[in-house]
Amino acid sequence: MDSFNTVKAVRGSILDIRQVVDSPEQIVDNVRFVKDGLLLIENGKIKWRGEWEDGKALVPQGTRVRNYAGKIIVPGFIDTHLHYPQTEMIGAYGEQLLEWLNNYVFPTEAKYGNEEYAREMSEFFIKELLRNGTTTALVLGSVHPESIDALFETALKQNMRLIAGKVMMDRNAPDNLTDTPESSYNDSKKLIEKWHKKGRLLYAITPRFAPTSSPEQLAIAGQLRREYPDTYVHTHLCENKSEIEWVKSLFPERKNYLDVYHHYGLTGSKSIFAHSIHLSDDEWQCLQDTNSTVAFCPTSNLYLGSGLFKLSEARRRKIKVGIGTDIGAGTSFSMLQTLNEAYKIQQLQNQKLSAFEAFYLVTLGNAKSLELDHCIGNFDIGKEADFVVLDPCATPIQQLRYDNAKDLSEQLFILITLGDDRSIYRTYVDGRNVYSAS
Ligand code: GUN
Ligand code: ZN
Repeated sequence: MDSFNTVKAVRGSILDIRQVVDSPEQIVDNVRFVKDGLLLIENGKIKWRGEWEDGKALVPQGTRVRNYAGKIIVPGFIDTHLHYPQTEMIGAYGEQLLEWLNNYVFPTEAKYGNEEYAREMSEFFIKELLRNGTTTALVLGSVHPESIDALFETALKQNMRLIAGKVMMDRNAPDNLTDTPESSYNDSKKLIEKWHKKGRLLYAITPRFAPTSSPEQLAIAGQLRREYPDTYVHTHLCENKSEIEWVKSLFPERKNYLDVYHHYGLTGSKSIFAHSIHLSDDEWQCLQDTNSTVAFCPTSNLYLGSGLFKLSEARRRKIKVGIGTDIGAGTSFSMLQTLNEAYKIQQLQNQKLSAFEAFYLVTLGNAKSLELDHCIGNFDIGKEADFVVLDPCATPIQQLRYDNAKDLSEQLFILITLGDDRSIYRTYVDGRNVYSAS
């Protein structure tokens, strides 16, 4: 087949961020906006990007140009922390973290030992990501390895870039949800051998959180990380004050909560610590020294009443921050809604979150937080062609507000504040259209 036949052409306004920055002030100078732009895609990668007028002659004869006039084409959104086996229990009433886990989460996750159920829910989950414009995510499964087989099988059909792992937990959870250090090692190892780097899939070693892992299991997790140094580590940290007290009582010999993970070799540039709300100075310092990442989960932190993440402290220390939904404590799959709540958390602390920084966070910033900025996050030539076509006027109020917005920053800010799944007009993964609103 003539290679030109594989070229796809997409026309519309194009918005992305040129490069990874180490302070939010640098973002505005790195915003790339082309009002009438062209993306050429070949074999799932960006082949060319720029002004339509400059690029139209490069479109191979016979190639249909998808014209998204009036829409905004942006890199696919990235969600750096969520639980797929909690999809069906979003919005569980009335509890904070520890009671919520016992009353709602554990009974739901127990269902994922059934392969057929896990497969059915994987399909639902991946569809929900795509209809919200999320093309990459860092996902926790349940304790059952079958849950991750099902999820990866589903993601592989779309050739998605997805990171996931089986939860490791060998104590302080119901018997039908606990593994052992040995079984969690064997199951995780098998999953790594089977899935890590298959297509665009990647594996995360996933001890749920310190209270549900024995010291032996955390040591085994550290051993896995040493055996497979290019996998991720994904867990929770300092989300809730009762949780922190519990960790203190379970690991009295450790300096603090993060020191538990650090002691077992679980910190590092591909370690993602969800929440990280109530950190001591020592813990902030350790995150900084180890180049670890924190995942800020605004809708979840508000919903469970966990507390206000200190984005300004993370910025000051130049710690990588990912932003995530944390479904099902989080209440929306939409990264736009997640940013909307992030803005309000900043407001409650008398801090700002500009539209451009918010946009950076869910695209190139999140790519960097997962050390994937070399392959996703913006439209540099050669990057993977995962993108979203946004409709900035999906509802009457958005149309009204858009028409009186004075510049791009305000248009984008409105999209974040008022937007949600209705703003997602098309989603593309690997250069293919995988979701259409209409
Ligand atoms: N800490 C340990 N497990 C969980 C979980 O499933 N959700 C949240 N938000 N925090 C946790
Ligand atoms: Zn979580």
